[in-house]
Amino acid sequence: MQRGRFITFEGGEGTGKSTQARRLAERLERAGIATLVTREPGGTALGEDIRALILKDRPQDPLTELLLFAAARAEHMTAVIRPALDDGTWVISDRFIDSTRVYQGKLYAIEPELIALLEKYTVGHEIPDLTLILDLPPDAGLERAASRGTLSRYDAERIETHETLRQGFLEIATSEPDRCVLIDGNLPIESVATAVWHAVTERLLANAV
Ligand code: TMP
Repeated sequence: MQRGRFITFEGGEGTGKSTQARRLAERLERAGIATLVTREPGGTALGEDIRALILKDRPQDPLTELLLFAAARAEHMTAVIRPALDDGTWVISDRFIDSTRVYQGKLYAIEPELIALLEKYTVGHEIPDLTLILDLPPDAGLERAASRGTLSRYDAERIETHETLRQGFLEIATSEPDRCVLIDGNLPIESVATAVWHAVTERLLANAV
């Protein structure tokens, strides 16, 4: 049996990751590919508990948060992602390692060596086959998050924070072009979905079917 492919969506707040993850899964299913949509932090009962914990009261020490994200990820990999990929199921995760690199690494300036070490032990060689980075100017993202009433704890922070996050994701897209595709999240939902599908077809489907 052919191993499943691993796709992640990344980007700042309100960039449309969850909507696009669902849309892509529907399209893959229509193409006859078994697909699982999951998210980070989350994806397991323990991970969802950790998510609630982190998003409710932000830990005072960024290290606390990093270790909680890493704990959720270890469980997610072992209990959900690895078995699904082994089974031939394609996995789509709404956020993954790049969120840690950008939020904890860039925003909270935690040493890249520590982040890389945790990544090595939680993810190992199973890094995503394709990462779709949805890019949006911070004010547009915040407007969207506000209008749907899902402002996260980061949304309350200043616009510069969001610009830092955006730059972090752009840097990853530039430095890892084989894994990452940058997509303009400011386009209408349909156009973003088309760009996502184009990337998946070109990068993954051409040699999968
Ligand atoms: P969201 O899934 O609704 O975007 O919320 C998750 C929040 O957690 C978001 O603000 C980004 C943050 N986050 C990190 O800081 N580090 C991580 O590794 C992950 C997965 C998420």
